Amino acid sequence: MLAAVASRTSPTDPLSALEVVERPRPEVPDGWVRVRVEAASLNHHDLWSLRGVGLRDEDLPVVLGCDGAGVDEQGRDVVVHGVVTTPGWTGDDTLDPGRSLLSERYDGTLAEEVVVPARNVVPRPPGLSAEHAACLPTAWLTAYRMLRLSGAEQGGTVLVQGAGGGVATALVALGRATGRRVWVTSRSEEKRRRALDLGAHAALAPGERVPERVDAVMETVGEATWAHSLRSLRPGGTVVVAGATSGPAPSAELQRVFFLGLRVVGTTMGTRDELEHLVGLLAATGVRPVVDRVLPLADVGEGLAAMAAGELFGKVVVRPGG
Ligand SMILES: NC(=O)c1ccc[n+]([C@@H]2O[C@H](COP(=O)([O-])OP(=O)(O)OC[C@H]3O[C@@H](n4cnc5c(N)ncnc54)[C@H](OP(=O)(O)O)[C@@H]3O)[C@@H](O)[C@H]2O)c1
Repeated sequence: MLAAVASRTSPTDPLSALEVVERPRPEVPDGWVRVRVEAASLNHHDLWSLRGVGLRDEDLPVVLGCDGAGVDEQGRDVVVHGVVTTPGWTGDDTLDPGRSLLSERYDGTLAEEVVVPARNVVPRPPGLSAEHAACLPTAWLTAYRMLRLSGAEQGGTVLVQGAGGGVATALVALGRATGRRVWVTSRSEEKRRRALDLGAHAALAPGERVPERVDAVMETVGEATWAHSLRSLRPGGTVVVAGATSGPAPSAELQRVFFLGLRVVGTTMGTRDELEHLVGLLAATGVRPVVDRVLPLADVGEGLAAMAAGELFGKVVVRPGG
């Protein structure tokens, strides 16, 4: 089967480490299921993997991809949950110390087939396309959980940093659909305009003063926006952190954190049950992911290059079947 693979890693030139090659059809261990992948989506995780973040030499080669949707061997439409927990783990999937994301210890979804534990497939309802469903398990699930952890309920105000990203566009769409007031920042005027079209109530340039302090900030950009995130919070507000695209080591600004009683909450992905709720929410509301482009697997490098250059608005979907 055809697959997008990291066969080596390169911290400085991640795309040079990408190969789209034929791989043997995967075996199916007891208790796992085979899914024919109709659509997968790209994440920054794929770029981090090609850079060598979270992968050791002995893990290579590995099939990339955390997100997928397709058909199982019983012919059921499914969405693949990307967090693989230790057998017997019963707590929150994301807090299992032995958890891994697809494409770390186990081959990922950027292939014609993927095998996953049976609990890692969630039914896909009619009306939710494979292309849209493939956007949910990483970026959208992370956004869904970020909003739940934000402490900003219906009517509360949320600031989303870096409006064009896969997580950020999910935050805008879900934040709006769940009754929050959503403000965004983006480096690009065009992306600010598109965020307003998507439902944001206001769009600001990076670092611009917010009209009033917000209840929560959704942070995935990191160093470039961290100071602005803390400055924009009301006393007692919450910054939820799920990424650090521009760098992981801003000044912590601890005086501001303790003096204003701010909460800093980290999160990664979400649980299988949260993915099932998210799928249900999309089915019920008609909210759908923003798809920047759809590519055949052979052109996956084009999507990763656009992501590395920060050129995307929304998700890149890949169709392994062409
Ligand atoms: N913890 C988790 O479970 C989880 C899940 C998904 C993603 N993540 C992480 O979250 C981050 C975003 O993921 P994504 O899939 O949304 O990525 P993406 O689609 O590539 O979006 C990244 C966004 O960050 C902004 N950005 C990038 N560099 C910037 C800079 N130097 N200054 C200001 N803004 C910058 C850009 O927004 P503008 O161009 O609009 O300014 C860009 O659209 C990644 O680091 C990823 O690894 C974590």
